[in-house]
Amino acid sequence: MAKEIKDVPGLEPKPIIGWLGNVAGMFSDPLTALTDLHQKYGDVLTISRGGNPHLFFAGPGKHHTLFVFGSQYNHQLMSNSDVFHSGSILSTLFPYGEVDTRRRVLQKLSIGLFGLNGETHRRQRRLIMPAFHKQRLNVYCDDIVRITNQKINNWKVGEQIDIWREMMNLTLQIVAQCLFGLNALKESQAFGELIQTWIKLAVSPGVLLFQSDIPGLPYHRFVNISHELDSIVRNIINQNRPTSDENVDVLSLMISAKDEDGNSAFTDDEIVGHSAIFFTAGHETSSNALAWTFFLLSQHPHVMEKLRLEIDRVLGSASLNIDHLKQMPYLDAIVKESLRLMPPAPLSARMVAEPVDVGGYELPVGTEVVFSAFHTHRDSSIYENPHQFIPERWETINPTAYEYIPFSTGIRSCVGMPLALMEIPIILAMVFQKFRLELSSSANVIPHIGLTMSPKHGMPMMIQPKDGNYNAGVGNVKGTIHKYIDLKPKLLS
Ligand code: HEM
Repeated sequence: MAKEIKDVPGLEPKPIIGWLGNVAGMFSDPLTALTDLHQKYGDVLTISRGGNPHLFFAGPGKHHTLFVFGSQYNHQLMSNSDVFHSGSILSTLFPYGEVDTRRRVLQKLSIGLFGLNGETHRRQRRLIMPAFHKQRLNVYCDDIVRITNQKINNWKVGEQIDIWREMMNLTLQIVAQCLFGLNALKESQAFGELIQTWIKLAVSPGVLLFQSDIPGLPYHRFVNISHELDSIVRNIINQNRPTSDENVDVLSLMISAKDEDGNSAFTDDEIVGHSAIFFTAGHETSSNALAWTFFLLSQHPHVMEKLRLEIDRVLGSASLNIDHLKQMPYLDAIVKESLRLMPPAPLSARMVAEPVDVGGYELPVGTEVVFSAFHTHRDSSIYENPHQFIPERWETINPTAYEYIPFSTGIRSCVGMPLALMEIPIILAMVFQKFRLELSSSANVIPHIGLTMSPKHGMPMMIQPKDGNYNAGVGNVKGTIHKYIDLKPKLLS
């Protein structure tokens, strides 16, 4: 017989502050904290015995947040989207139910695909998907190559750059061009920084724990920035309403989509919500993936040398096109391995919509269930030496769709995956076709878990000529990254 939710093992509430004490303890390094809890309590655990936190989603009732570890749970959660609902990424940041006028903007900005379920989600997702079909990818490829060229042509040998910031800016321009048809996102740097500040605030303790819209408090600033973002995205949409049906970027698809009665399938607010999510989900994840890959390559000279040989053989000095990518299996393996080791979306959550048994526990409606790509990808029964960066492993392993989940799988999988899996290798190939990147000695590499996993202090790197000196800058890396990755520098002889 299934046990009750109160029997799930885990942390007891702290005196006076209850479960909040446990959450606060996890803020600085949630993934390492979860690794310890997993070892201590097993595959199903809670950090809130007797408490009622909604860490990810708002909702009625007093329920728990559970953490589950293992591909069998990934399977259960991902293949049953009517029982396990997704939720708006911002829903814990405004009151459940009626929202006051000023804070309605938070609701609006969260109507992206993440916040929809059931038939509405399936229908809107279906209408958006053509923007990621194969024919579109060919067009995107040319755009990505052109925008990347513009970016890296400005880099100077000998200069230090924050490769994470550079990638944030580059991937934002790519999303703006490919999905919204914006030739040059004016002041894209400033817009990118505003999105960053917004995301940082959205997951900061100050905003999450003190949700009072009072001047001087971080929450007030968060609401102000939400209004600013709303009006920027609305302007972008209004200034770029497509003039012909030939455009099939996301924006034109949403604007021209009709329901069965011939009415617009998306309201203006929904278009703003989807667009905001595309801008944030579409550039933050890819730039993190790129920053971590540049870092991993900077610490694995023998991998870097093998990649250089592949780039020289396939690409030489030619301008990259989509066929080149198909001839670079080692680059493909590097991207797969980097997304395994440092998944940009390490944790995902679902909310139980119908009573269900998970791991022998009867979960009531409203329970949050959190699953972890980060821990799944470190399961040593699936991946030998899971903490090491070994692209070669992909020549022999073939994990199931629930054992390798950087983009999730099923009806809620990442819609942007085809774009991400094209832009990441293109950017890597083009950078290494021209340069060598060396980790700066000032780098302090600390993974930060917000909405995604990013390098907390950026990723300072030196731009060097493509001279093959891949041993430079290897070893003695500072920061908590050693808790995440077993860095075993094998120098080139
Ligand atoms: C390396 C890059 C990326 C990674 C690792 C990534 C990862 C993910 C993951 C894990 C999910 C599922 C989250 C969940 O199960 O709760 C997701 C969903 C989503 N992603 Fe991505 N993503 C990436 C790039 C992109 C890009 C480039 C776009 C858009 C341009 C995008 C847009 C979305 C959207 C709209 C969803 C929600 C899908 C739905 O609920 O139907 N992502 N992504």
